[in-house]
Amino acid sequence: MTTPSLLILPGDGIGPEVMAEVRRIIDWFGAKRGLVFEVSEDLVGGAAWDAHGTPLTDATMSKAQAVDAVLLGAVGGPQYDDLDFSVKPERGLLRLRKEMDLYANLRPAVCFDALADFSSLKPEVVGGLDIMIVRELTSGVYFGEPRGIVTENNERVGINTQRYTESEIARVARSAFELARRRGNRVCSMEKANVMESGVLWRQVVQEVHDADYPDVELSHMYADAGAMQLTRWPKQFDVIVTDNLFGDLLSDLAAMLTGSLGMLPSASLGAPMANGRPKALYEPVHGSAPDIAGQGKANPIACILSFAMALRYSFDQGAEADRLEAAVQQVLADGLRTADLMGPAGGTPVSTAQMADAILAALDAQG
Ligand code: IPM
Ligand code: MG
Repeated sequence: MTTPSLLILPGDGIGPEVMAEVRRIIDWFGAKRGLVFEVSEDLVGGAAWDAHGTPLTDATMSKAQAVDAVLLGAVGGPQYDDLDFSVKPERGLLRLRKEMDLYANLRPAVCFDALADFSSLKPEVVGGLDIMIVRELTSGVYFGEPRGIVTENNERVGINTQRYTESEIARVARSAFELARRRGNRVCSMEKANVMESGVLWRQVVQEVHDADYPDVELSHMYADAGAMQLTRWPKQFDVIVTDNLFGDLLSDLAAMLTGSLGMLPSASLGAPMANGRPKALYEPVHGSAPDIAGQGKANPIACILSFAMALRYSFDQGAEADRLEAAVQQVLADGLRTADLMGPAGGTPVSTAQMADAILAALDAQG
């Protein structure tokens, strides 16, 4: 068997410092569990702009296409705010998603027991929460044409287009149904079929895919605005939520914050299977580059570490090893270790980025 390959793109802001800790975790799996990866590293976002004048070089793009999985930190920062739209750090990430055709973005919203008090909602509303948002990631208003800022009748007009083909809807619906079968067996699809034709088609196609191939999965439909309301009212009613690119962007931030753990949540962006049967894949934390705390050792590395756990699970068929890593994270939280973002009224032991990773490594060792 060939050594599985990982491309690491730390990116900007806190990306490099959290990724440095992930590399230690990767090395631990190599040394202690015999899971050796061929790891390479490259630039994306503002870091790539600074070095090469583009947020993603063609060479990096080719590398990303060739590896078994990409692990990305975060992109963006205030120093890039005035750059032309076409070369902003975010474009590097969007190009990776689009050209790798990573259409299914899995964003778990899990409330860690040790952090239930940390949510803005009551502990009984969020305690034990475990939902999965499947966000369509390669189409919709993020990529639809026409787009731009044009002048009409002597004024500027900003244009973006929401556009979905039925095959784009069907494939992400399949991802959601497949996942649901391995979880609570329920899918709620969210759109705005009351105002948007793309939403009408979305609802029809999701229903058709369900009726044809997944009749055993319980399917419901909800308007996305009502979905936002229900997510804050009683989030535990959901298992898997499937939605489009823009609604998924909003709803996943909302769901992440419900858990009180924005600094804790990973994500996986998956495409079609490659020749070796593994899906094209990119893993990244849900949080951003947090430029205000970058370089101070304050960042929480857990979201990025759990993104590697998702890679173990979804790219490398190492579910048991992913469980091991997730259990180590649960353990350090239960032990009261808290990076700055997790310092609530309940207190805890304040730790730096590196100390959090030290503790996770120690918890992995302790598991034997
Ligand atoms: C996300 C981010 C991105 C998005 C940005 C950085 C382009 O908000 O991954 O949710 O809007 O998709
Ligand atoms: Mg977002």
